[in-house]
Amino acid sequence: MKTIQDILNQKDFSKEDLINLLKINTQENLDLLKESANNLMLESVGSNVYLRGLIEFSNYCVNDCYYCGIRKSNAEVHRYLLSKKEILDLAIWAAEKGYGSIVLQSGERADENFVSFVEECIVEIKENTKSENLPNGLGITLSIGELSLNQYERLFKAGAHRYLLRIETTNSDLFKQIHPETQSFERRLESLNCIKTTGYQLGTGVMIGLPNQTYEDLANDLLFFKEIDIDMLGMGPYIVHLSTPMKIYKDYYFENQKEIYALALKMVATARLLLKDVNIASTTALQAMYPWGREEGLLFGANVVMPNITPNEFRKEYLLYNNKPCLEDNKGDCFTCTISRIESVGRKTVLNKWGDSQHFTNKLRQNA
Ligand code: 5AD
Ligand code: FES
Repeated sequence: MKTIQDILNQKDFSKEDLINLLKINTQENLDLLKESANNLMLESVGSNVYLRGLIEFSNYCVNDCYYCGIRKSNAEVHRYLLSKKEILDLAIWAAEKGYGSIVLQSGERADENFVSFVEECIVEIKENTKSENLPNGLGITLSIGELSLNQYERLFKAGAHRYLLRIETTNSDLFKQIHPETQSFERRLESLNCIKTTGYQLGTGVMIGLPNQTYEDLANDLLFFKEIDIDMLGMGPYIVHLSTPMKIYKDYYFENQKEIYALALKMVATARLLLKDVNIASTTALQAMYPWGREEGLLFGANVVMPNITPNEFRKEYLLYNNKPCLEDNKGDCFTCTISRIESVGRKTVLNKWGDSQHFTNKLRQNA
């Protein structure tokens, strides 16, 4: 039988290899995995960490995902939509601070009013954030869900150039268990395809540790990322939200928290080994489970961090899961905090750069 070191010495991995990496359960093997992922990261994307200022600009949502705190049926949530001026001011503040990129994230809505609102925001952000440091303005990533091809194209033309849409799980049965019938796995796949054909850098991801999710499911998720040739990856542990239908799994969640957290880190490392030069985010959900979770994510091969720049009064209305960090009044200063946390694990933050996916750049070069 192959040892973990044998697997790590390979250049490519079978599904079985991936499963064995995800099943690692000794400190010794975990250290080997972490070291390999770190080395591969240094070789393929370097040690720099890129920032994206996250603006959670609206929590209205037409969807009803069984795990998510801002699902439309959660009547406890106060719904908000920041104004164009508020969004623009946040973007300008971010650009001046040194964030080279922002992520505009919201609950899902595909109505014309909403899409043209986002379109106008993008145009104005682009116009108003150009400077010597950022000659092309802020880099803009969108994370606003499933839209039509035409809508994706409009927002791309307006100036957004990256898009995040998580597949959540590639096991279509499991997808069905955590979403109502109105949300289809096939449509999610089509949306990913549309995002790609439009020309965006494509990001996706899954939740790790979902009830009934197997190691094989996660290995399939990784192979799917490779197959659809993603540029960016954002994955995090599943975290229970007690005002959602999935609260019925709270015992499972609280009893397995430690394993779920460790599995999320192993997924990050394994994804780095398999996907090599993509951007991988160390997600807030890791930090929600463990105070140094995001730093650990960096140590397991991640190279992007998304500090929250949403004004404090709205952050608490954007609770996707329990225990969301950075809700206290920190005067919006996740910036200084994040940079020192990144330094604490020996890494350097790059300011005033878009920090595009090396994978995307390499592809462009190959096709030129
Ligand atoms: N636990 C972990 N991640 C969650 N998300 C939503 N709800 C939860 C939860 N309870 C993630 C989903 C979604 C992203 C914006 O947040 O993966 O795509
Ligand atoms: Fe938000 Fe530290 S990252 S306060």
